[in-house]
Amino acid sequence: MVNDGFRLFPEQATAHAAQVDALYIFLTLISTFFTVLIAGLIVYFAIKYRRGNRKVDRTLSHGHGMAMEISWIVIPGLICLIIFGWSASLYFSAFRAPAGAISVQVVGKQWMWKFQHPNGGREINTLHVPMGQAVELTMISEDVIHSLFVPAFRVKHDVLPGSYSRLWFNANKTGEFHLFCAEYCGTDHSRMIGKVVVMQPAEYEAWLSGGKVNESPAVAGKRLFEELRCATCHTPGQGQPVLTCPPLTNVYGHEVQLTTGSKVMADEDYLRESILRPRAKVVAGFQPLMPTYEGQVDEEQLMQLLVYIKSLSTHPSAQ
Ligand code: CUA
Repeated sequence: MVNDGFRLFPEQATAHAAQVDALYIFLTLISTFFTVLIAGLIVYFAIKYRRGNRKVDRTLSHGHGMAMEISWIVIPGLICLIIFGWSASLYFSAFRAPAGAISVQVVGKQWMWKFQHPNGGREINTLHVPMGQAVELTMISEDVIHSLFVPAFRVKHDVLPGSYSRLWFNANKTGEFHLFCAEYCGTDHSRMIGKVVVMQPAEYEAWLSGGKVNESPAVAGKRLFEELRCATCHTPGQGQPVLTCPPLTNVYGHEVQLTTGSKVMADEDYLRESILRPRAKVVAGFQPLMPTYEGQVDEEQLMQLLVYIKSLSTHPSAQ
């Protein structure tokens, strides 16, 4: 059961969650300290310098208090730098998945979350993950902007149409945790909810292999690649003796030279664009011959094609 009891903070189910809370508590304490200090001084001075109090010194002070001026510049400056450094390092760790993370494909649509596991297993609105392993979500929307939010993991990211976004987490506690859409996306936005089920690794393996046998995204991608006849042009030895299209081996994660002379990193967004709008960025040395596949493949199929193309690269330098 998802734990719904009253609590000041959501449950912490990742090491990252504890770190986010520590920063949050620090910000709260700093704000409280200065609020109390300033409000206290206002009250103190209001009483001390009230009209009629003849015992106080009301002569004007001259010159300025250098020590005080320096301290009110340096101290808040240092506090801001500490907050900046602390939160920037948290942000980077929150959005850079470690190598070897389990890759889950996520498609958001009005009004559901669709998940696909590396072995092809599919789920809707529920995501099963193992405890103690990094899980990376690659997310896209079929329609409007959604946002995937798991409060217990302290992770949230917009899920956009037309562009991939990523999130990762490493749950350190088994159980069920809320999963929300955190971006108003239409009538049933409030029902676009689900749960993340964190299991012991052995249980997770059993759960994965117990499901219906599905094609893995890489296998489905390879099948699509052949069905859509991409192979005739992109794979050496399959069609014409001379390739009329760039081969796709070791493309993902590497820089590609374009006809315009500029270079582009072949990441998922570039490959997606090249499938849907092949003429947007043509690889140097090739003619813009490829037809568009817009409308012929849906977001899930596109992700499968990308997983397959990624699998053709040995040492991708990009994530
Ligand atoms: Cu999807 Cu709100």
